[in-house]
Order: sequence, then structure tokens, then C-alpha cells
Amino acid sequence: MTAPALLVVRDLRVLIGGRHILHGVDLDVAPQGVTALLGRNGAGKTTTVRGVLGLVPRAGSVLLDGEETVGLPTHTLVRRGIGYAPEDRGIFAGLTVAENLRLAERRGADGPAYGLVHELFPELKRRSKQSAGTLSGGQQQMVAIGRTLLNGNRLIIADEPTKGLAPKVVTEVAQVLERAAEAVPVLLVEQNLAVVRRLAAHCAVLADGRTAHQGEAAALLGDEEATRRLLGVGRGPLTSRQDLTVEADS
Ligand SMILES: Nc1ncnc2c1ncn2[C@@H]1O[C@H](COP(=O)(O)OP(=O)(O)O)[C@@H](O)[C@H]1O
Ligand SMILES: [Mg+2]
Repeated sequence: MTAPALLVVRDLRVLIGGRHILHGVDLDVAPQGVTALLGRNGAGKTTTVRGVLGLVPRAGSVLLDGEETVGLPTHTLVRRGIGYAPEDRGIFAGLTVAENLRLAERRGADGPAYGLVHELFPELKRRSKQSAGTLSGGQQQMVAIGRTLLNGNRLIIADEPTKGLAPKVVTEVAQVLERAAEAVPVLLVEQNLAVVRRLAAHCAVLADGRTAHQGEAAALLGDEEATRRLLGVGRGPLTSRQDLTVEADS
């Protein structure tokens, strides 16, 4: 990474109920494009994101644009411009698309950026009166990511946005993220390596609550031995997932 990182996480530690969940996470999020956070199930990816957001008690250092944020409450972090699309999407199923977006509005100098959201996701404009619970998984993901784009955020964190989606929908969501990342840098927690390969320039890999690797995503994914050692994929039970094809832009 040549430009200074937007988010610099150092020795992040999280202790929940007397159990050390994270014990030394280092992570640099690039100031542009997509940085991927990888690791097997239970490695500590979601806890890292929750630690960055101050949703769990944490120790260590998290610099946002050079300013220390450990010790700040979550609402301050959100106001400083971190948008979060959580693992379960956090959509209000009984509310319309427009209502879900409206609930995410924050007071800001420029007002909510509906222009940007509707330009990136015209489908959300067309479906603004539709109840969010009746949307497809991919469309719900658009709402979750659209919400993070409303408020002029500096960083978007998306936790496994393609999880549980059919391959065709994975492709759609990857396109959504790609477009979002043109506007705002994204920290993407992702298990689908085809999506990582397509979107991410940089990556960090967690194992057992620690950073096991940081570097260029293409270099890691091009190294079959390292990919297998760090992520447990390559040859083996997860191969089919790795081989999911994500169509390239024409
Ligand atoms: N609130 C919690 N209380 C106790 N254990 C937790 C809690 N949250 C996560 N864990 C444990 O911490 C580990 C890391 O979880 P998580 O961060 O969700 O992993 P990932 O997102 O990489 O799958 C897992 O073993 C999980 O069971
Ligand atoms: Mg998780």
C-alpha cells in the first residue's frame, strides 16, 4: 500500500465474558477501493469489525485518518464517517425500501446523498415503496450498502455481504460493492475468494483472533500453498466455493 492507510488497526484485543476473542489484530485499510478481511469461520472477522466500531470492549489502537478512536463511543465513530453493513444486513423487513433508507439519515451539512444511492442502485429507486422483507437477498444487500452511502461516510465496512446468496446474486452484489467502492473505500469481510479476487487490492487474513497475513490480495490468491494454509481452501472441501465464477466486466 503506497498511500497512507485510512484505517490503521494495531494489536486490537477483545475480551468477552472472560474469553480472549482477539489477541493481536493488525489491519491497514487502503484509502481507496476494497480491502478484504479474510479468515475461516470463527477466526474473529466480525469481532474485529465490532471492535473497530466500539460495539465490544477493546484495547489496542485504531487510527481513522491518523486519529485514535479506541475510547470513543460508537455514535462518535459513526458520526466521524464509518458506515456499517452488518452480517445479517440489519434490514427492517416490515418497512419499505424508502423507509429503511430514511431511518439511516443523519444530520449533515450536505443532507443525505440520495442522488448517489439512486445513481449507483437505480433498482432501489424503482422499488422505494416495496416492503424490504419481500426483496431478494441481493436487493436487501443493496439497501444495506445504500444506507452506508447516504451520509458522506469516509469508510464502509461490509460483513460477508455475499453470504448465503446464489451465485448469480453474488455477482450482482459484487457489482454493487465495486460501484460503492468507487465512491467510498470499503473494508470487505468476505469468504468468497472469487469476489475477493475481483474486488480487493489488499487483504488481511485472520486466524485464531490474530492477523496471520497482510498483503496484496492477488499475491495471496495466486499462491495456492499460502491460500490453503491460511484459508483452508484450494484443494479440499471448499474448492467449489472458491471456484464460483464472478463475471468480469465486459
Ligand atoms: N459475544 C461473544 N461471546 C462469546 N464468544 C464470542 C462472541 N462473539 C464471538 N465469539 C467467538 O469468537 C470467535 C470469533 O467469532 P467471529 O468474530 O464471529 O468470527 P468470524 O466472523 O471470523 O466467523 C468465535 O469462536 C465465536 O464463537
Ligand atoms: Mg463473521
